[in-house]
Amino acid sequence: MTTTSAPPHEESAEDPSAFERALGQFLLHYKFGLDEILTKINILREELAFRGTGNPIEHVSSRLKSPESLRAKAARIGCPLELDAIAGQITDIAGVRIVCSFIADAYQVLDMLTTQPDVTVRTIKDYVAQPKPNGYRSLHAIVEIPVFLSDAVRTVTVELQIRTAAMDFWASVEHKIYYKYDKDVPAELVEELSAAARVAHELDTRMAELHRIVHG
Ligand code: GTP
Ligand code: MG
Repeated sequence: MTTTSAPPHEESAEDPSAFERALGQFLLHYKFGLDEILTKINILREELAFRGTGNPIEHVSSRLKSPESLRAKAARIGCPLELDAIAGQITDIAGVRIVCSFIADAYQVLDMLTTQPDVTVRTIKDYVAQPKPNGYRSLHAIVEIPVFLSDAVRTVTVELQIRTAAMDFWASVEHKIYYKYDKDVPAELVEELSAAARVAHELDTRMAELHRIVHG
């Protein structure tokens, strides 16, 4: 078995359908990577439920970039339409979002996933300890995971976003506002969002305190 990087394909004017096929296969490998991470999350959920130590994971969602949105992102960041370049430069082809009840759970889940021996951490960004200027909070990790194919091993990247329900609520509202105003949000709404982010964080802090009182 050989370890390969992305299949060496680039968009060629002579045969665009060959590139389409290669892109389909390329994306399938990311879907497998996503499946592996989702299995890991399900194992953690079931094992922790069995142990009766409480479930740190509220819900999980995942998405694979469509060929159209991959092309659009490549064009936006000036990445050549060539699979090796895309694999190196676009790290959110496969994305998983894990929503937890409490901040401590988010860190625990991040730790439980990123310390597994077949998971290689590329980057971790802690926007919980250091929120973005708009108030966005979340834990982000770009991880690499091997996918075992019939005749090769492919390593793919998966973007993990781990956050509390309060952070998730804020991020989904902010995302809608951001797109409604075509990324040019009026100053008063920016201020309002920032205030709402502070309230969301206070809710997280107070809920953690209640949890501590009840469960010790
Ligand atoms: P991209 O923004 O995806 O090109 O990557 P990046 O290198 O800027 O990474 P970053 O960690 O900043 O963001 C990755 C992803 O996190 C984004 O694609 C969003 O899904 C989410 N995200 C980051 N910042 C915000 C934010 O301010 N608001 C919301 N709603 N989501 C955000
Ligand atoms: Mg960004």
